[in-house]
Amino acid sequence: MNLIFLGAPGAGKGTQAEYVCERMSIPAISTGNMLREAVKNGTPDGVKAKDFMDRGDLVPDEVVIGIIKDRIAQDDAQNGFILDGFPRTVEQADALEKMGVKIDLVVEIYVPEERICARMSGRRVCDSCGASYHIDYKPTKVDGKCDSCDGNAVQRADDDPSTVLSRLNTYHEKTAPLRDFYARIGKLKTVEGQEEIDDTRRLTFEAIGLK
Ligand code: AP5
Repeated sequence: MNLIFLGAPGAGKGTQAEYVCERMSIPAISTGNMLREAVKNGTPDGVKAKDFMDRGDLVPDEVVIGIIKDRIAQDDAQNGFILDGFPRTVEQADALEKMGVKIDLVVEIYVPEERICARMSGRRVCDSCGASYHIDYKPTKVDGKCDSCDGNAVQRADDDPSTVLSRLNTYHEKTAPLRDFYARIGKLKTVEGQEEIDDTRRLTFEAIGLK
């Protein structure tokens, strides 16, 4: 099954993708994580992406499309995958079609904007493996330390309030039109993001047809 997780920044795409990929044994492919890794390692793509990410803008389509093309060609993606954070523009969705990728379902996670900002301010990510936490909803076992490796759980650079605002504006302007794009071809299902992660997980599994 090839799935797309769509939703505003902080809606919970990455959190739910983790559960679904574990259940379905398919990889969750997050362009955000891959770009952050590229920035950290100073690769040519990372150098091109950094300023856009710092401002809360989208990284140019050609950079992200190239990254996705390489990633979905890898062996572990041949039996299906979850795209988390891609496509984010109609041009990216067109590019996916041109690659011959058949999408089975697009799951939109919808969370009202006033709740997004609280989620972002409480999010912590591991600076080593990228695992994601929340100080209230998904705390680390040891304060400030990742549960799965030795890394530090820190605030993401683009989670400061002014960058979050800019990311939300970018989402409405460039990514929200994809809802209609996929609704028109009957592929879109919307899940209302709940206050508890487990409740959203139940609704997400239902939308995909998982028990
Ligand atoms: P990216 O990393 O994709 O960021 P995003 O879409 O803004 O999404 P987030 O990772 O912030 O949120 P999420 O929906 O995954 O929420 P999460 O599960 O973490 O992109 C970053 C940047 O990279 C972009 O701004 C852009 O510059 C660039 N980029 C990436 N892809 C691109 C593309 N295709 N084209 C161009 N540029 C691209 O949850 C958030 C928090 O809430 C967590 O702390 C979590 O624990 C908590 N939480 C989750 N669910 C719940 C719940 N139900 N109740 C309570 N808390 C919850």
